[in-house]
Amino acid sequence: MLLMYLAVLSSALGGLLILNGGVMVAEGAAVQVTGNISKIEDASYFRIYYGKTFKVIKNDLDGKSYLLIQSDSKMAIKTKYCTPRIKSFVIPLANFSMDVSYFPVSFFERAEWIKYLGVFANVETRANEIYDVVKSNYQCLVKSAASKKIRPIVAWMEFNDGVWTFTKDAYKLKTVDVLIDGTLTQDPFDYNGTMFLQNLNIEDQSCLAFLSHESVWRHDKRLSTDMALDWFDGAVSQPQLVLADMIEMLFPTGSYTTTYFRNLLKGEEVTILGLENCNRDTFTAMEPTTIACT
Ligand SMILES: *[C@@H]1O[C@H](CO)[C@@H](O)[C@H](O)[C@H]1NC(C)=O
Ligand SMILES: *[C@@H]1O[C@H](CO)[C@@H](O)[C@H](O)[C@H]1NC(C)=O
Ligand SMILES: *[C@@H]1O[C@H](CO)[C@@H](O)[C@H](O)[C@H]1NC(C)=O
Repeated sequence: MLLMYLAVLSSALGGLLILNGGVMVAEGAAVQVTGNISKIEDASYFRIYYGKTFKVIKNDLDGKSYLLIQSDSKMAIKTKYCTPRIKSFVIPLANFSMDVSYFPVSFFERAEWIKYLGVFANVETRANEIYDVVKSNYQCLVKSAASKKIRPIVAWMEFNDGVWTFTKDAYKLKTVDVLIDGTLTQDPFDYNGTMFLQNLNIEDQSCLAFLSHESVWRHDKRLSTDMALDWFDGAVSQPQLVLADMIEMLFPTGSYTTTYFRNLLKGEEVTILGLENCNRDTFTAMEPTTIACT
């Protein structure tokens, strides 16, 4: 019996290698599973395989696989399958972590990791729903932004050790309409328009469009009480809000309040968010925020 499970499992792991374009095509002993499963549409670094009484999640970033076994199945009693690369658990299980801020992927792909989390908690259906809501809202925003006639030029720059990376050359900056200042700072409170202009250190500021349009932004508008940027947290799961911010930065309406970016030249300050700012019961799962989009 154990051998058979292992055969199915290794075939499951082998089958994972041919996942293609987000479509799940498992080789060999494929099992039809309906409901409560997640299919990967956009993310590149993890894969999920479903068997009859188990699921396998493969994380391509650390090379580890997890075998999650239904707790009331025979397999749960009989199978112990742990190697340095594969660990098996009887579900539900918790306790694992990942640091999404270092993933070299788009906003979009990062959001799909909610499905990775969902598999561990048996809430694939909800994870799928949330991802679908986020993705369709994101795509709608992309479409509406793509129809705009103007194409502003954006520069995302950082000031470190006295030097701006990207460029500080005044002649190059003249073409820039919107500037995002990604300079890391210990104290976002103190980083204001005055400091930006000091760092900019360009005498003739008359021809810089981002100054005359007052369009200099930082991505540190939302901070936790221990000064962690929500940019590395909330923004990961809600790429549609990041995109909506960017659209407001590029095509200002003045009527949309950005979530993650603050305008330095308009004197926008950072906001510290503590527990008291959470307007729902903390045991209730958060719903994704959707942006009005036609
Ligand atoms: C998915 O699993 C949840 C929790 O076990 C259950 O309540 C729900 O009915 C399942 N949905 C489907 C479509 O099977
Ligand atoms: C859970 O996380 C804690 C803290 O990182 C660790 O000490 C513990 O070994 C983990 N437990 C399991 C089952 O991985
Ligand atoms: C920026 O901060 C400095 C020091 O805290 C302060 O002196 C200055 O007035 C501030 N500038 C603006 C535009 O608020």
